[in-house]
Formats: sequence, structure tokens, C-alpha cells
Amino acid sequence: MSSIESFIRGLPKAELHLHIEGTLEPEMVFALAHKHGMALRYPSVQALREAYNFTDLQSFLDVYYAGAAVLRDESDFHALTWAYLCRAHEQGVVHAEIFFDPQTHTVRGVAIDAVIGGIRRALLDAERTFGMTHRLILCFLRHLSAADAMRTLEEALPHAAGIAAVGLDSAESGNPPAKFAAVFARARRQGFLTVAHAGEEGPPDYIREALDLLEVSRIDHGVRIEADPALVQRLVRDQVPLTVCPLSNVMLKVFARMEDHNLKRLLDLGLCVTVNSDDPAYFGGYIAENYLAVHRALGLSRADIAQLARNSIHASFLSAAEKSVWMGKIAEFVATAQRA
Ligand code: HPA
Ligand code: ZN
Repeated sequence: MSSIESFIRGLPKAELHLHIEGTLEPEMVFALAHKHGMALRYPSVQALREAYNFTDLQSFLDVYYAGAAVLRDESDFHALTWAYLCRAHEQGVVHAEIFFDPQTHTVRGVAIDAVIGGIRRALLDAERTFGMTHRLILCFLRHLSAADAMRTLEEALPHAAGIAAVGLDSAESGNPPAKFAAVFARARRQGFLTVAHAGEEGPPDYIREALDLLEVSRIDHGVRIEADPALVQRLVRDQVPLTVCPLSNVMLKVFARMEDHNLKRLLDLGLCVTVNSDDPAYFGGYIAENYLAVHRALGLSRADIAQLARNSIHASFLSAAEKSVWMGKIAEFVATAQRA
């Protein structure tokens, strides 16, 4: 392993933009399909992986929702989440904030209790086993109606103690944050924090709506913000974090090549940029591969990489005391690496 690779993997960091359904590896798709006696359209694991050739967000979402159909019971959600947490732990993730999409499962007749129960059991296992902390974020599918989102919120309320925030994902264009203003207002009244995908394929105005109407703590993706300098200034001033997902952006053709990605420019503008993996089973890498890809393509220095890790802790929903512990550990890790 190169020295930069071991620096990246060893650096304590948080992952803040991760769809648990997007960690479903082809091997697990086949194992769960076999368990449940389901037929798959693909003859082999390799054939399935080769089908991951996306032209845009929607072309990915079609494959992603089809794959999630093999997740049927509590133990499936536990196995999925546990596999992700083990890989994240190996890559230096000390704290994970995880999205899940209940509507993808409840529409197929899977009970929300099985979804949340399995995910939470794995999160608690990781806390006991690795000392890894977590937050769980319930995402509404924005291509569905606001009424459907409101019903989903009501259904999740008995599990509110285990859910830190609500978010918004799925097809962005034509589904502005404004559509969900009432749902998010209700969620905030129930004590949930809020986040939203905005400015991935959609315009900077969606970022503004997410801030003004949904009162989000962070913007997921947000890379299209550059087109609106006044909005950039606002996010720099308020230090609203962006959870950027470099490999995702290239796989979904938001940027043609990693060399074209604007992450370094956003960082240099003073935005609180973080690096995350989004849907690692589909996009060719987990968090360390995302850090490594931007290091290689954009020439990020070790100082930039350490800044990204500090940003991830700062942007997390950890307490101020927990954040200060991790900032100290990052400083210690960087100092030790410099002496080596
Ligand atoms: N964007 C929107 N919805 C998603 C994504 C994404 O990158 N990944 C999983 N659901
Ligand atoms: Zn995402």
C-alpha cells in the first residue's frame, strides 16, 4: 500500500452521505435472492456488476431500486448494514451517518420495523465491537408524493428515538425541496434534524430552497453551487457543509472525468466540503477510494486531505465534546504521520 493510501485509510473520519441500500454488493444480491427463492435477470455476479454502466441519476436509480428488492427481512437489513460498517471501520471511519429509504421497502410489503430493526441492530453491534458511533437518517423519495412522505414520517414516529434526521433523495430534477416543505416542518416539530440532496443534477435554486424551506443543516452533493456566486458566499459565511461524493459524480456523469471535478475549487473557496461514498457498491469504491481518487486527479495535498477529515467531524451530528475528541485524534494522527 502506498504511503498516501495508508495515510487516507488511517485518518479518523466521519462518513455523512451513505445510502445503506447503495452498499448492496452483487455477491449479496445473489446470496439473498437464493435465500428467498427469487429469480434474477442476470446470470452471474460478474454480469450484474458489468450492468453498472450509468448515463445519469435516473439510470442508476432504476438499477438501485431493482437491486433492493432482495432485501426482505430483518436479518437481511442487519447483514447489509453490518457488512458496510466492517468495511467502513477498516477504512478509518469512526462515525457514520447513514441514510435509509423506507418507501423502497414498505411499497413491497416489508414492515418498517424490519428495516429499522435490522439496521439499528448492526449499528449497535458496531458501537460495541469497534466503538464506532452513528446517526440514522430517514430519507423520503422525492419522486413520490408529499402525502406518501407524510405517511412514512407518521409510520416512523414509534422509532423516533433511533432516528436523528430526515433527508430527501431520489430523482432531483422536477422534484424541488418546496414539494416537501410541510413534511419537513412536521419532522422538525418532532425534533428531527434535516438534510437534503440538492444541486447534484438540480439547479442552485434547489440548494436555496433546501436552506430556506427545509431548514437543512447540510446539503447533500451541492456541487452545482458554483453557478451561483452569491449562494457560495452564503454557504461560506454560514459554514453550511456539503457532503460531496466524487466517484458517484463521475459515475452519474455530473462530471465527465474526475480531473474535471470541482471539489478542490469548492474547498479553496472556503466551503466546508466533505468526501463520502454515496452508493459504494455501485460506484466502484468506499470512502478511502473516494479520498484517493480526488487526491490523484486533483492533486490534493496531505493538508487538504486532513482538512476534509476535520470537515467531516465538524459537519457531523456528534456533540461538541465528541467533535473535540476527534479533532485531537486527527491532529495526533497527522503529527505522527509527519514524523514517520
Ligand atoms: N442522488 C439521489 N438519490 C439517491 C442517490 C443520489 O446520489 N443515491 C441513492 N439515492
Ligand atoms: Zn446520495
